Amino acid sequence: MAKTEVKTSLLDNMIGVGDMVLLEPLNEDTFIDNLRKRFDHNEVYTYIGSVLVSVNPYRSLPIYSPEKVEEYRNRNFYELSPHIYALSDEVYRSLRDQDKDQCILITGESGAGKTEASKLVMSYIAAVCGKGAEVNQVKEQLLQSNPVLEAFGNAKTVRNDNSSRFGKYMDIEFNFKGDPLGGVISNYLLEKSRVVKQPRGERNFHVFYQLLAGASEELLNKLKLKRDVSRYNYLSLDSATVNGMDDAANFRTVRNAMQIVGFLDHEAQSVLEVVATVLKLGNIEFKPDSRVNGLDESKIKDKNELKEICELTGIDQSVLERAFSFRTVEAKQEKVSTTLNVAQAYYARDALAKNLYSRLFSWLVNRINESIKAQTKVRKKVMGVLDIYGFEIFENADNSFEQFIINYCNEKLQQIFIELTLKEEQEEYIQEDIEWTHINYFNNTIICDLIENNTNGILAMLDEECLRPGIVTDETFLEKLNQVCATHQHFESRMSKCSRFLNDTSLPHSCFRIQHYAGKVLYQVEGFVDKNNDLLYRDLSQAMWKTSQPLIKSLFPEGNPAKINLKRPPTAGSQFKASVATLMKNLQTKNPNYIRCIKPNDKKAAYIFSETLVRHQVRYLGLLENVRVRRAGYAFRQAYGPCLERYKMLCKQTWPHWKGPARSGVEALLNELEIPVEEYSFGKSKIFIRNPRTLFKLEDLRKQRLEDLATLIQKIYRGWKCRTHFLLMRKSQIVIAAWYRRYAQQKWYQKTKSSALVIQSYIRGWKARKLLRELKHQKRCEEAVTTIAAYWHGTQARRELRRLKEEARRKHAVAVIWAYWLGLKARRELRRLKEEARRKHAVAVIWAYWLGLKVRREYRKFFRAYAGKKIYEFTLQRIVQNYFLDMKNKMPSLSPIDKNWPSRPYLFLDSTHKELKRIFHLWRCKKYRDQFTDQQKLIYEEKLEASELFKDKKALYPSSVGQPFQGPYLAINENPKYKKLKDAIEEKIIIAEIVNKINRANGKSTSRIFLLTNNNLLLADQKSGQIKSEVPLVDVTKVSMSSQNDGFFAIHLKEGSEAASKGDFLFSSDHLIEMATKLYRTTLSQTKQKLNIEISDEFLVQFRKDKVCVKFIQGSQNNGSVPMCKRKNNRLLEVAVP
Ligand SMILES: Nc1ncnc2c1ncn2[C@@H]1O[C@H](COP(=O)(O)OP(=O)(O)OP(=O)(O)O)[C@@H](O)[C@H]1O
Ligand SMILES: [Mg+2]
Repeated sequence: MAKTEVKTSLLDNMIGVGDMVLLEPLNEDTFIDNLRKRFDHNEVYTYIGSVLVSVNPYRSLPIYSPEKVEEYRNRNFYELSPHIYALSDEVYRSLRDQDKDQCILITGESGAGKTEASKLVMSYIAAVCGKGAEVNQVKEQLLQSNPVLEAFGNAKTVRNDNSSRFGKYMDIEFNFKGDPLGGVISNYLLEKSRVVKQPRGERNFHVFYQLLAGASEELLNKLKLKRDVSRYNYLSLDSATVNGMDDAANFRTVRNAMQIVGFLDHEAQSVLEVVATVLKLGNIEFKPDSRVNGLDESKIKDKNELKEICELTGIDQSVLERAFSFRTVEAKQEKVSTTLNVAQAYYARDALAKNLYSRLFSWLVNRINESIKAQTKVRKKVMGVLDIYGFEIFENADNSFEQFIINYCNEKLQQIFIELTLKEEQEEYIQEDIEWTHINYFNNTIICDLIENNTNGILAMLDEECLRPGIVTDETFLEKLNQVCATHQHFESRMSKCSRFLNDTSLPHSCFRIQHYAGKVLYQVEGFVDKNNDLLYRDLSQAMWKTSQPLIKSLFPEGNPAKINLKRPPTAGSQFKASVATLMKNLQTKNPNYIRCIKPNDKKAAYIFSETLVRHQVRYLGLLENVRVRRAGYAFRQAYGPCLERYKMLCKQTWPHWKGPARSGVEALLNELEIPVEEYSFGKSKIFIRNPRTLFKLEDLRKQRLEDLATLIQKIYRGWKCRTHFLLMRKSQIVIAAWYRRYAQQKWYQKTKSSALVIQSYIRGWKARKLLRELKHQKRCEEAVTTIAAYWHGTQARRELRRLKEEARRKHAVAVIWAYWLGLKARRELRRLKEEARRKHAVAVIWAYWLGLKVRREYRKFFRAYAGKKIYEFTLQRIVQNYFLDMKNKMPSLSPIDKNWPSRPYLFLDSTHKELKRIFHLWRCKKYRDQFTDQQKLIYEEKLEASELFKDKKALYPSSVGQPFQGPYLAINENPKYKKLKDAIEEKIIIAEIVNKINRANGKSTSRIFLLTNNNLLLADQKSGQIKSEVPLVDVTKVSMSSQNDGFFAIHLKEGSEAASKGDFLFSSDHLIEMATKLYRTTLSQTKQKLNIEISDEFLVQFRKDKVCVKFIQGSQNNGSVPMCKRKNNRLLEVAVP
């Protein structure tokens, strides 16, 4: 087939037949021939109706590419050549569109390609279902659960390098859109015996080899492992590596997958620790020890391995060691400990390893389920995929308990297959009243019953035997079987009561044989009891429970002493039976789909098609019967309602609605389509279509019709759309036109209105102007009249005014003349009255004088001639007297400086008053002076002298007035410091004081004791008291000082005198006024000459030969009253005064 060619039907370019239903003639040979032919042409898939038969090609075919996925996507099941994708697509679409839960049952023997098929289904579903970050994560987790489970649950066997050693059923859950939400995995009976022992040519589970090959050195060290397979007893050596399998790379894949699935780092680590523990358990060896009480004891050979296990698992070494040496049995609250011999110890060790590993596996499945479980509670659609071990038949009676269990499971699956396809189909035909010739098929219920019957089934017998008290062995079990099952037609045993096998040498004594639907299988009874019991000594589970590793602890819950359960745990057989029953129940609720895997050869080789092997499988899978049923029956059936609904568009009568019953509708439809009557049958509620091709034809017609309908709908829709659009446009146009007209009319109206307004305004303007002109004229006339009238009235008024003025003038003149007249009259009257009054006064005076004269003349004789003078004197005396008395009370204080004096009462006393004041003042001064002592008198004299000399001349003077003159400030006589000085002076000391002597050369000052005696002026050293200079007062000619507030003074000396050899003295003192006054007074009293005191701000002094000008300038206030002297040059000495 050219690559680009697109198939449109299953029938295109068929190799052999794609659907066995179409095979002619139909028998086993043609069936196998057809398979071989297709296999040789790389067509590994063939249909039997809706069942897919898959032959393992043992090589990779280019039929699983993404392009292929696209090719099969959304295509009819029978449209393209058979493919697992077609089945997957059909299943997925039924699930998504018809809301029917689905399951895919993949069966076949080991190596037939079941696991590969399940992975192909999953990958197809993942490729076609919804996308998005969340959905992709779910998909990825679901897909990545495979490598993890395969590493722990798959192993190399002689039949298959990657044989699944557990059964797996996975429910994938979808939402209503068909997006995956999550999944649930169930596992069935892991072949745990493989952990401790593998048949020749087989390996232990992959994970052990992967760990040793792929783990880093660091991880191996942590797990206390060595990278050497040969070191571990549990690992078989003869096939430690598998061709084409890279264990190291697979280890990385597994770890990565664990991470994606959601294992936490510490969880992954714990899992590897358990794996390492299992490996190391295999290396614990025992040796016989002493016999005590007739019982054998064993002992661990090399405790190093045990120690490392304990370190890995965190179990106390002594606890584990004891658990390997003793077995405690508890019965009726009694504990009995027995020692274990070497064989028992090995048994215990292996049981522990197997249990540890199988429990870890179950934990892994649960952990994965936890990660992949759907996070929503909404109703889910479910697709189950069952990949379970195929039928196993070993030769040479090597079949044991495991094969028995596996084959039982397959028997059950066959049963469900029969039930659902063959039986149900036939039953449906009968139910639907379809003509039907019965086909005989083998119903395997009888075999299932042989195994699982609760009363006498093999499993029940085994359980009974296991629980029976007393000695129980595999032989006793076989005996029991021989008794109970002897008559069963599918049970064969040499020892049974049935004699037909007595001479059958192919049936060893220790075996029994079952005729399974797939063939006879000889089971070796050895190990059945043990494996069914699956016993782990309680001591070991309790020891394991004491681990510090949480994962291991959780694997051995029965080891918890608080939860001791004396009830025996369910046997392996009954557990398996129960889980198979659950599985069957689950499958029955779903729509089944089958993939029958066939293994073409035993060599795992490509291109080899072993006819015998395939024939065997075709037989026991009942494929031929399957085809027969399909051929005898009808390929397709559907209820009338949905069928009519689906195809009603193919017939004018039924389109679009059929009014009558659905069945007659379908009849009308098929009649119109001219489908041959033999192609279909009418059931009670369903139409049955015999041939798939008829269905394809219907589907094709439907598809074509749908396209026509789509065109029709499109046409109508477009018409409707255009019409609606047109109507809308028309409506819009009318609205727009109406609005436009309104707008245009408005415009026209506004224009007309404004024109009318303009004309109107012009006319009104013209009229107004005309009126204005008239009014103006009228107004002017009125104004003219008014003016004329005003002139006239003015003339009239002035005339009247003149007249009135003339009249008023006349009246005024009269009034004035009258007034003058009245005035004249009044003055005349006044003069007359005054004359009269004077005359009257004169008369009165004259009268008074006359009276006086008369009185005096009368009383003259009664008065003395000098009485007047007397009165006068008396009065005067009284006044003076009062004056003095008054003064006495008003006298001011006796203080000479009190300026108060009462005012004089009479002017004539003025001079008296002043005199009195002067006398009083003199008197009170005298009074004041009279209080003075001689000393005080002297001081006041001096003060007076100072006042005369300096008052109003030197600014320093006022501040000296308050200071009492002390003279000798230094107590020369008393102070012993000055004893030498005192001794040198004989005269009375007038002044003894410290002065600053100013250096003539540089103006700097030094302290000197200044002494003034009656005749001399002395300068002495302040410290030593030694006299430095002595000047007789007669040689002092002048004292000079400034008018300012400073204490600087110069003492001029007589020229040529001995004292003046160095020149005049310059001093400064705080008591300048006192010193100058005292010097003046002493000089005057001694020499009778007045000492010249010059007060000037610039004077000359004599230094040796030079005359130097001493000039006072204004200095800073900083130095107080002390002047700052500076010799400027030969001629000038500047004194800075404050
Ligand atoms: N479709 C296929 N294309 C190519 N090779 C295949 C295909 N199916 C199976 N194989 C090969 O056959 C081998 C065995 O297949 P698979 O593991 O699926 O068998 P199985 O039926 O699951 O066996 P078991 O019951 O032992 O688990 C695969 O490892 C693979 O090499
Ligand atoms: Mg498998």
